[in-house]
Amino acid sequence: MNATAPFHPGHAFPHDFVWGVATSAYQIEGAAAVDGRGPSVWDSFCAVPGAIADGSNGDVACDHYHRWAQDLDLIRDLGVDAYRFSVSWPRVQPDGMGAWNPKGLAFYERLVDGLLARGIKPYLTLNHWDLPDALQARGGWAARDTVHRFVDYALQMDRHLGDRIASITSHNEPWVMATLGHETGLFAPGIKHRATAMQVAHHLMLSHGLALQALRAQGCQARLGIVLNLSPIRAATDRPEDIAQARLEDGRSVRWYMDPLLRGAYPDDVLQHLGADAPQVEAGDMAAIQTPLDFLGLNYYTRSVVSADGSWDVKTSGKPLTDMGWEVYPEGLTELLLRLHRDWPLPPLYVKENGAAFKDVFADGRVHDVERTDYIARHIAAVGDALRQGVPVVGYMVWSLLDNFEWASGYAKRFGIVHVDYATQQRTLKDSALWYRDFLRAQKLARAAR
Ligand code: FCB
Repeated sequence: MNATAPFHPGHAFPHDFVWGVATSAYQIEGAAAVDGRGPSVWDSFCAVPGAIADGSNGDVACDHYHRWAQDLDLIRDLGVDAYRFSVSWPRVQPDGMGAWNPKGLAFYERLVDGLLARGIKPYLTLNHWDLPDALQARGGWAARDTVHRFVDYALQMDRHLGDRIASITSHNEPWVMATLGHETGLFAPGIKHRATAMQVAHHLMLSHGLALQALRAQGCQARLGIVLNLSPIRAATDRPEDIAQARLEDGRSVRWYMDPLLRGAYPDDVLQHLGADAPQVEAGDMAAIQTPLDFLGLNYYTRSVVSADGSWDVKTSGKPLTDMGWEVYPEGLTELLLRLHRDWPLPPLYVKENGAAFKDVFADGRVHDVERTDYIARHIAAVGDALRQGVPVVGYMVWSLLDNFEWASGYAKRFGIVHVDYATQQRTLKDSALWYRDFLRAQKLARAAR
């Protein structure tokens, strides 16, 4: 496969376009019981037999809690502008309410100061899925009180870090927490109940809106937004039942989140479909959710093809598949960006995650991950195509900096552009990291020449 970017690197991107790499707390930090961190829903979920493919958990992960300085050096050497990380809520507030943990707060202070010292913009996510377990015991995201606990947490993080961070994301991928966490039960907290899932989705959105309002009222300096997982959704055939199914999936995964954020209402067709499972919404909730965004982040990995009887098989798509079994479909990113631009009044957009798991071969200190390099290059080109057609994309971040704990897949799926040897915690830049570094150098040269 051709590992070269299929476009001239200096061509499309504005001088202030933000290039980054992304991680999340539970997937890399480890130190699960160190310095007063409380358990999260993912610690408990990992203890459920069969929940994680390889029976693993995030107890050690990449040991980033102890190796953060070395990891920040790696990020600096890549030449990125920004680093997207998440705060572990139970590390800074072990019970999700009440006492704050000074050692947890100090860790993120060190991290943010370390980024600034290296010239990297900190992009902070408040909730990348690791809700304090103590709040789950009180109903978790299904309980309306958790909304207010989240707002308190957001304000506390702003008080500690708000003057030094570029951006705060409320939630990462509310669809995943609601649907995989509470409807299919494949992710923490492992609940399988559709009405609960929809109430969770509503509370996530509400807490997002209320947190943004409270942060602004507190004078927060960072840019504020949310990150959604979005895909173009195609019907497998022209049959009316497949088209209807695709429309419903689009409603549940794309419009259910985009419409309230940018139009202040849930989509009627989905509400009708849900019937009694639709969430309870109180007066003022929808206006809060529609609080203006400074940015919208989206995570893109693949498209989705649906059939009413579930018979479509991705293996017949004719496209290469990643180690997750996801179709490599970069044109879907351009398609998605154009559709968002057409259908909603958008704030500036970021691609906050994009990347791929492949079966890497580590040999002689190198990882020749041609497929990942090609994947990233093609998706960057797809962003360039959307930019040229007028979509307001302002940044792109690779998922992920490091190989890490890939949730229910455990450690078997490697998404990093940096290889992690879990036995020794040795980090090695894969060829994709070297390509990204060179690509960014070329971007900077092109910037300077303009
Ligand atoms: C996204 C998650 C991220 C990672 C990638 C592969 O859904 O936000 O943590 O697991 O998928």
